[in-house]
Amino acid sequence: MSDNTLLSAEIKKLQKERNAIILAHNYQCPEVQDLADVIGDSLELARQAQKTDADVIVFCGVDFMAETASILNPGKTVLMPAKEAQCPLAAMLPPDVIQVAKEKYPDAKVVMYVNTTAAAKTYADIICTSGNAVKVVESMESDEILFAPDKNLAYYVQQRTKKKIIPIPNYGMCIVHDNIKPEYVKTIKKKYPNAKLTVHPECLPEVQEIADHIGSTKGMMEYVKNDPSKEFIIGTEEGIIHRMKKEAPGKIFHPINPLPTCRNMKKTNIQNLYEALLDMKHEVKVPSKIADKARKPIERMLNL
Ligand code: 13P
Ligand code: SF4
Repeated sequence: MSDNTLLSAEIKKLQKERNAIILAHNYQCPEVQDLADVIGDSLELARQAQKTDADVIVFCGVDFMAETASILNPGKTVLMPAKEAQCPLAAMLPPDVIQVAKEKYPDAKVVMYVNTTAAAKTYADIICTSGNAVKVVESMESDEILFAPDKNLAYYVQQRTKKKIIPIPNYGMCIVHDNIKPEYVKTIKKKYPNAKLTVHPECLPEVQEIADHIGSTKGMMEYVKNDPSKEFIIGTEEGIIHRMKKEAPGKIFHPINPLPTCRNMKKTNIQNLYEALLDMKHEVKVPSKIADKARKPIERMLNL
């Protein structure tokens, strides 16, 4: 038996003893995905975190995802095997930037991407994910929306609503998706002319414009499973291709070159997952003063 198989068996045993659920984002490495109870996009994972009756939530993803799970479950233990896995996009929205924008646009509502810190979320009227951003914006009473912090997702929403979308800050972006240059995509499209191009809305506007489909990681999964095409170019972090191959067998998936890899998503592995469960360590706890304020806009989104 390989070391990984032994470790996986130990994790399953500990999971039962601790009554733990393992949630993993679509970008996690294959070994972690294969062990998870639920694999999903940010929205699906937040919903799972909200409804689980497990005592312990082991979150395999990045900081803002585990924080959201903890905010929704103040009475539960949320463990993050790679505590240092931070989303750089979430760090691009310091609360003072929101405060200044709110003063400049007093009538605007603040729609904030879930990829933000818990402290930033306390300034939001409502949270959104890439899977529901348009629906969330449309649900707001105001015609002016301060949209933070991803400028490319803001562009995606602006193409689909009549409301005025004001990106704050105007430089916010995911370093992984923003780095998928239109020329990389065009080269792959030329090489595989029959392949459909699906991309994440964190990609640059020029990449969105040439895509056949744009969606959250859940949306992308559904697209490759349901579209009759046999071949796809995957405009997002490469980790999702493992799941696509498993759930859409017989189809062909071409990653972007150079390979878009989120270093932070790859910090979780089955060794640190095992250690977190064994010693019940790397707990994520949001101070209750912040959590109580941040919970409202998250719940508003989940209740939509
Ligand atoms: P999804 O909600 O689409 O899974 O996106 C999360 C993310 O971090 C994208 O980079
Ligand atoms: Fe953050 Fe981008 Fe990584 Fe997603 S892919 S977790 S937005 S850095």
